[in-house]
Amino acid sequence: MTRGKSAANGNGHRKNVNAITPITTHKNGKSKPILITGGAGFVGSNLAHRLLSAGHRVRLLDNLSRIGVERNLRWLMETHGDLVDIDVPDVRNFSVVKQAVKDASQVFHFAAQVAVTSSLVDPREDFEINAGGTLNLLEAIRTMENPPPLIFTSTNKVYGNLADVDFTQRPTRYEPADASIRERGIAEDRPLDFHSPYGCSKGAADQYVVDYARTFGIPALVFRMSCIYGPHQHGNEDQGWVAHFVIQSITGQPVTIYGDGRQVRDILFIDDLVDAFLLGQQHMKKLSGNAFNIGGGPNNTISLLELLDLLAELNGGDLSICFQDWRAADQRYYVTDTSKFSGLTGWKPRVGVAEGVRRLYEWLLNESAHCSGEPLNVTQFASAGRAEAAKA
Ligand SMILES: NC(=O)c1ccc[n+]([C@@H]2O[C@H](COP(=O)([O-])OP(=O)(O)OC[C@H]3O[C@@H](n4cnc5c(N)ncnc54)[C@H](O)[C@@H]3O)[C@@H](O)[C@H]2O)c1
Repeated sequence: MTRGKSAANGNGHRKNVNAITPITTHKNGKSKPILITGGAGFVGSNLAHRLLSAGHRVRLLDNLSRIGVERNLRWLMETHGDLVDIDVPDVRNFSVVKQAVKDASQVFHFAAQVAVTSSLVDPREDFEINAGGTLNLLEAIRTMENPPPLIFTSTNKVYGNLADVDFTQRPTRYEPADASIRERGIAEDRPLDFHSPYGCSKGAADQYVVDYARTFGIPALVFRMSCIYGPHQHGNEDQGWVAHFVIQSITGQPVTIYGDGRQVRDILFIDDLVDAFLLGQQHMKKLSGNAFNIGGGPNNTISLLELLDLLAELNGGDLSICFQDWRAADQRYYVTDTSKFSGLTGWKPRVGVAEGVRRLYEWLLNESAHCSGEPLNVTQFASAGRAEAAKA
């Protein structure tokens, strides 16, 4: 196993985060790990890669319940070797969460039940993972002498289905009638309006994080995220729609459109999100206690029908599609107003839709050509990770 083999991020950009994320050490001189729950997932593995490439130790806590994420873990292990600590328990288990957070210098909490559809099938499980898991983490942090700063990933679903926003129907997309929404998107002053069990469980967690910062003074902030996309996303019909459409296009399988396909989203390329995480930690003092809307913004919008057109261009042919009824809690339009976070940190997305989709397309094409079915021995890494946490 090689250690820190590559300093590039797999996408060839933004190598040096040391400048804004200093490495923190124990009294014994050993560097403290950065904890990422859900760290084998799409968002987690991309952040982990950036931090590991800059020489940080990273501890991943992930029960590997998402199909495909074991491939992300393999990639991290092969690229960075023993800088990665891996633990494979569940965020519903308080004692392991407490153990994992014990010596962390920073915490990113991404582990979640991520699909609205699954939350409708099993609302209790959804609640226990998303709300209960977050409370476990907050309780573990609250009782620490020096609580590490926490970033939690919430969702635009906390604003409901925006039923009061009027739309004009264009040939390929919905457009808000209100010019200010059209130009800026949805800001944080929008009233919370949880729709679907997923919206409720993530919304509850979101509010717990904001309140633990207020009531107990722990350094913590929330990102209410729109659609994120990019390499290492194992998208399916229930979550990760951009990657799902690209996979269907590459494998020549049909795409089902729920609704009329004019739904509009702003999409944010993963490297831009990772930049925002690093800035969030860097500016934690002034940002703590806030929730921020994070997405591609009005310059990076696309409808489902428009993505199909883009993929037809990339793939040299039309996809076969079928239409079905609208899904519960689906928003006809959601575009992020990112000005609150941008104003405080200077962040803005750098990768446009056409370039980002092309990069995801190329990554998935390469992945499908080189995918190995070899099983991954995570148990070995899990016990190594637990032993490491116990020693600290
Ligand atoms: N990707 C997006 O577009 C998007 C948008 C809004 C919010 N989010 C939020 O961002 C976070 C990361 O999303 P993602 O796209 O990387 O999803 P993902 O499914 O790729 O990653 C989530 C990870 O959490 C793990 N996990 C699930 N249940 C767990 C449990 N009980 N204990 C431990 N680990 C568990 C999964 O195995 C997976 O690796 C999630 O909290 C999600 O709700 C994502």
